[in-house]
Parts: sequence; C-alpha cells; structure tokens
Amino acid sequence: MHCTALLSVIFYCGAVLSTPLSSSLGRYSRYASRRAESTGLRAVGYFGNWDIYARNFFVTDIDVSQLTHLIYSFANIDNTTGEVLLSDEWADLQYAYPGDDTTANGTNVYGGIKQMFLLKKKNRSLKTMLSVLGATYSAYFSPILASESLRANFATTALKLMTDLGFDGIDIDYEYVQNSTEAWQMVDLLSKLRSGMDVISSNTSCSPFLLSYASPAGPLKYTQLDMAGMDQYLDFWNYMGFDYAGSWDTIAGHSSNLFASSDNPLSTPFNTSTAINYYLTTGGVPASKINLGSPLYAHAFAGTEGPGKPFNGTGTEGSFGIAGTWDYKALPVEGYNATVYNSKKIGASWSYDSAKKYMISYDTPAIAKQKAGWIMKMGLGGSMWWEVSMDKNGTESLIGSTVKTFGGKKALDSSKNHLSYPTSKYENLRKGFPEE
Ligand SMILES: *[C@@H]1O[C@H](CO)[C@@H](O)[C@H](O)[C@H]1NC(C)=O
Ligand SMILES: *[C@@H]1O[C@H](CO)[C@@H](O)[C@H](O)[C@H]1NC(C)=O
Ligand SMILES: *[C@@H]1O[C@H](CO)[C@@H](O)[C@H](O)[C@H]1NC(C)=O
Ligand SMILES: *[C@@H]1O[C@H](CO)[C@@H](O)[C@H](O)[C@H]1NC(C)=O
Ligand SMILES: *[C@@H]1O[C@H](CO)[C@@H](O)[C@H](O)[C@H]1NC(C)=O
Ligand SMILES: *[C@@H]1O[C@H](CO)[C@@H](O)[C@H](O)[C@H]1NC(C)=O
Ligand SMILES: *[C@@H]1O[C@H](CO)[C@@H](O)[C@H](O)[C@H]1NC(C)=O
Ligand SMILES: *[C@@H]1O[C@H](CO)[C@@H](O)[C@H](O)[C@H]1NC(C)=O
Ligand SMILES: *[C@@H]1O[C@H](CO)[C@@H](O)[C@H](O)[C@H]1NC(C)=O
Repeated sequence: MHCTALLSVIFYCGAVLSTPLSSSLGRYSRYASRRAESTGLRAVGYFGNWDIYARNFFVTDIDVSQLTHLIYSFANIDNTTGEVLLSDEWADLQYAYPGDDTTANGTNVYGGIKQMFLLKKKNRSLKTMLSVLGATYSAYFSPILASESLRANFATTALKLMTDLGFDGIDIDYEYVQNSTEAWQMVDLLSKLRSGMDVISSNTSCSPFLLSYASPAGPLKYTQLDMAGMDQYLDFWNYMGFDYAGSWDTIAGHSSNLFASSDNPLSTPFNTSTAINYYLTTGGVPASKINLGSPLYAHAFAGTEGPGKPFNGTGTEGSFGIAGTWDYKALPVEGYNATVYNSKKIGASWSYDSAKKYMISYDTPAIAKQKAGWIMKMGLGGSMWWEVSMDKNGTESLIGSTVKTFGGKKALDSSKNHLSYPTSKYENLRKGFPEE
C-alpha cells in the first residue's frame, strides 16, 4: 500500500523478510527502512493527557477534522530500566468515557487511549502517535540514553506500547541533547526504534509506522544534534517554534516570531527563519520533513512599555492558575483593554494594554495565515501545534486559519492510519472495537 517502489521489490504485504536488507541493498542499506509517504501538508496537534482535569477537555472534544496527526503526550520512563511507561494509567487506560462498559470481562482498554483509536476509525487519514518524555520526564533521561542496553529496552518497550495501544508511531521529545556523545546516542536510539518498527510493519502489514522528533529552536540546543544522522530514521521533525521569550527573561519579547526585528532587536531574542535555515543547510534536513510548530498559548509580561522593553514579572493571572501563560482561547483577557498588533515584518503578534502596561505575546489568525504562507513558500512539511485543547473554534481557530491558507482539507496529507493490531494485549482493541 504505502511501500516505496524500491521496497516493494523486497517486501510484500504480510511477508516475513527472507533476504537480509544489508546484503540486498549494499551501500543503500541505510535508506532501506519503510516510510510512510505524505500525500499533502501535515497538520499535527499535540494533546496532553492532563487536559481532562483542570481544562475539562477530553479526547472526544478534539476537532480532528483538520488534523493529519494527533500526538498523545507524554509517556514517562522508568529511570532505572529505561522502560517506557504511561504517565497516568487512570486517564490513559481506565477512565470511563460515555458508552464504556468497564465491567466487561477480559483485558480491555478504556480511557483516552481507546478514544484515540475510535477517532482513527472515524477518520482513516488521522494518524496517532505517542510522545515520550517532554520537558518534565527529560530530566531522568541522560543515564538511560548513555547505556546501550537501556536504549534497547527503551525502544522495545516504546514499540510494545505502540502495538498494545494502537498508535501509528512514536514521537521523541527529549529536552535536550546536551553534547556530541548524547547526539550519537540519540541517533542510535532512533535507529533502534526505526528498525523495530520495520520488523513490526513487515510482519503485520505493508504500512510503515511513524517516527518523529520534537526539536529545539534555540541555537545552543539545535547545534548539539546530529541532524543528518537522526534524519535518516525520522519521518518528520516537529520544530518547537515557541517559548522564544517568557517569564525567565528580563526584556519583554516575542515568543514565536518568524523573523528577527532589525529596528527593535531586543524584542526578538530568537527567530524561526534562522533556525529553520540551519536545519536545512547545515543540518541537511529536507524541508518537507519539517513541521513548523506554533503555540496555541500566550506569554504575558507585566509592568512593561512593550516589546523590547524591561518588564516586572508576569502578574498573578493566567489560565488554570498558571501565572503568566494564557490559553489562546482565553484571550482577550477579561478586564483588560488590549490593543492587538500584527507585525508582518517579523511575523509576530501581541496585545498591549497601555494603561495597565500589560503585554501578551501570542499568534493571531492573521499571523497564523502568514506562517502558513511561509511554510508553503519554504516547502516545509506542514504545521504543528502545542496543544489542541487551547485553540478557539470557528474563524478564530489558529489551526483552522492555517489549514484554510494551506488550501483547505484537500491540501492535507491523507495517507491512511493503521487499524490492525493483532498483537495488542487488550482484547477490545485487538478486535478493533467492532461495535463502536
Ligand atoms: C478526516 O480528516 C481529513 C483531513 O485530514 C478531513 O478532510 C476530513 O474531513 C476528516 N473527516 C472527518 C470525518 O473528520
Ligand atoms: C463475566 O464473567 C462471569 C463469569 O464467567 C459472568 O458471570 C459475567 O456475566 C461476565 N460479565 C460480563 C459483563 O460479561
Ligand atoms: C526515579 O524515579 C523515582 C520513581 O518515580 C523517583 O522517585 C526518583 O526521584 C527518580 N530518580 C531520579 C534520579 O530521577
Ligand atoms: C554529555 O552529557 C552527559 C549528560 O549530561 C554527561 O553525562 C556526559 O559526561 C557528557 N559528555 C561529554 C563528552 O561532555
Ligand atoms: C511475526 O508474526 C508472527 C505471526 O503473527 C509471530 O509469530 C512472530 O512472533 C512475529 N515476529 C515478530 C518479529 O514480530
Ligand atoms: C535569529 O535566531 C538565531 C537563532 O536561531 C540567532 O542565532 C540569530 O542571531 C537571530 N538573528 C537575529 C538577527 O537576531
Ligand atoms: C513590580 O511588581 C510588583 C508586584 O508584582 C510591585 O510590587 C512592584 O512595585 C513592581 N515594581 C516596579 C518597579 O514597578
Ligand atoms: C483602549 O486602548 C486604546 C489604545 O490605547 C485607547 O485608544 C482606548 O481609548 C482605550 N479604551 C478604553 C475603554 O479604555
Ligand atoms: C468549541 O466547540 C466545542 C463543541 O461545540 C465546545 O465544546 C467548546 O467549548 C468550544 N470551545 C471554545 C473555546 O469555544
């Protein structure tokens, strides 16, 4: 089905490999893994498994009609064995969504994981992935990454979760690779994940599984990566084009701008354009494999004259008790007279209340459209968002504004997801939830 021409000579659906790849492909063997081919632009949304608590936002609330990939975040690791583990089994496996009969006999899966699968049944072009680590769990990762046997256990257990839980792939979000030693260890980890995925797909279906990497925007971080080494195993990169400025700074700035500002350089400590050009030129990453990530949230700066000027804290307000950050859908913040500014020159937007001296950095629909145009102009692979519970509906939706600029749903990748998981330990998932 989605095998490349080269590979279809060697693989056919359901067959077990009889010829070792390395001998049949010789020096091309490093390109020999199975890849899904995108048929259009990607629209990749992350979902946080904690969304069901304070945000009261469930997997069933996600508007997947404009997404090509939905990434469930985050799986944790056992910091001694490297085993990849779910981080909240109650939310992930047990929580009873409407219609779930959790008293049924047998080993069954419920919670967010089951709903992710049901979304795939409704929309065969929605691919789901499990993201491992994220900022918090990354803190435990160095010793795991440093050991050959723990890397192997990480890969084996990540793929076991993928096939038990019905995902189409794995996303690695390690923040961050620290030096050249970790860089080759990461390449080796991705290699192990990829070769494990190839065995699974060649054994069960013709359709490859997906591997992606959530990748950094700061030069001190991205220059540590062996991009070419990683890229040979990845389907795509989720470039994290956000958090360029925030509470940790001394100057109020733009947190997700495309370009550096020449007339107010202090307002743009980072910029997307330079970083992406590094990925493309020095890194050698094909443009079509990079998804530009944008925030569906905002960073606030209190006591400031505006972008490029000092600020005094973030104030105590914020979405769900997190001071200084707002979900995009919470804007404009009640009680403020926020004037909205869009700068096409730097590809950034913000709001400013001049009486309260309160600035909020976030993307407006106008800037989302500009970014979508830039993605197409640069030949990038699509867009990514952190995270789906934070968007608005309708014409103000940043996901919707982006997809519309791409050319609508017909411009999106429509490659098919997997529904067959014959080795899943969960009976209901193995059967494919026939009644639902
Ligand atoms: C499935 O997703 C595609 C885009 O990926 C979209 O065109 C289509 O409307 C979606 N279908 C449903 C039922 O959500
Ligand atoms: C579970 O199994 C028991 C014993 O076989 C049976 O009595 C019960 O009806 C089953 N429950 C359901 C919900 O099928
Ligand atoms: C390892 O994980 C355990 C259990 O989750 C935790 O208590 C401990 O602090 C972690 N150790 C390190 C070094 O991160
Ligand atoms: C690389 O970083 C890891 C994790 O901090 C550290 O243990 C290791 O010593 C570093 N290696 C080099 C060569 O700096
Ligand atoms: C391949 O599939 C067969 C039959 O389902 C199974 O017995 C075997 O263990 C699988 N091999 C691998 C490497 O997954
Ligand atoms: C743009 O961002 C890069 C980091 O990715 C930085 O090195 C560069 O100095 C920035 N350019 C300007 C003009 O600020
Ligand atoms: C900074 O903000 C704090 C309240 O968060 C306020 O007490 C203080 O006076 C402010 N400082 C300046 C210089 O505005
Ligand atoms: C809101 O701010 C704008 C721009 O500073 C100003 O023109 C307008 O009068 C303000 N409105 C109110 C109700 O304070
Ligand atoms: C968007 O629409 C859904 C479904 O109608 C609703 O549950 C949700 O509250 C809406 N979200 C916003 C931010 O308006």
